[in-house]
Amino acid sequence: MSTPKPLRHYLQFKDLSADEYGHLFERAAVIKKKFKAYEKYHPLADRTLAMIFEKASTRTRVSFEAGMYQLGGSVVHLTTGDSQLGRAEPIEDSAKVISRMVDLVMIRTYGQDKIENFAAHSRVPVINGLTNEFHPCQILADIFTYIEHRGSIRGKTVAWVGDGNNMANTWLQAAELLDFKVHVSTPSGYEVDPAVAGVRGGDSFQVFADPKDACRGADLVTTDVWTSMGYEAENEARRAAFADWCVDTEMMQVAHPDALFMHCLPAHRGEEVEADVIDGPQSVVWDEAENRMHVQKALMEFLLLGRVA
Ligand code: CP
Ligand code: NVA
Repeated sequence: MSTPKPLRHYLQFKDLSADEYGHLFERAAVIKKKFKAYEKYHPLADRTLAMIFEKASTRTRVSFEAGMYQLGGSVVHLTTGDSQLGRAEPIEDSAKVISRMVDLVMIRTYGQDKIENFAAHSRVPVINGLTNEFHPCQILADIFTYIEHRGSIRGKTVAWVGDGNNMANTWLQAAELLDFKVHVSTPSGYEVDPAVAGVRGGDSFQVFADPKDACRGADLVTTDVWTSMGYEAENEARRAAFADWCVDTEMMQVAHPDALFMHCLPAHRGEEVEADVIDGPQSVVWDEAENRMHVQKALMEFLLLGRVA
């Protein structure tokens, strides 16, 4: 079966254009509606997705696996521990072999260089299911969730409170591409690096020392764990450094009265967010988690079939 040429990968948020995001959000809404109505939709019948996990996952695994089955396809699940990836088979060789047998690959790994290298040697589209640097599928879901609740994100302000990590980098890319603003507040030593995020550093993001100032007037307040996967050795130092970067009701009160709260999950109540916020009326974290599946189904459809009307 042929895949649209040239081959498209989804390794960073900026791999798609603003116009293509418009298409994906429309398709995600259509695909979600079909799912809710139990309407069969099998455009990827006989297609196979390989999912490679070098780090743990709940949402990414379930959303890609369930999503691919719902589109009529099937999945192969690989981890470092149960494949030759854990025994140092070169990435290039793994990419050449795996991509001769499946139609699409999703990878969750450490360095972005690893997934870029895999994609460079793959015959089929490769999707980033999280690296140390980026988590594009999550921001895709987050923006879709924002649109569902509040309409276009264009011109809005997102407050990022916490680590300058893979999620923060991806928000910065999204803001530059989709024309909104990110207010970033991180503890010192954990700042976002525009060079790593791959953004120009114009006026699409602004840095605040005090997390409450970052939240002032924001349309969306969002955060993430203090310690991302792969950084566990820094746990104690991070606990001390991040103590004031807990999204609390005071921060939500200075945000726009209509502000939403999001968290990619898993969350640690009492650390990066108070229970009253994540379990409160402004939180849309469960819609956000569910939407991973709907947007990724739209993404897989796009990468394998191109623009479906
Ligand atoms: N948000 C997210 O990617 O969750 P998992 O780590 O459970 O996949
Ligand atoms: N920043 C977190 C996101 C988990 C979904 C991590 O990389 O562990």
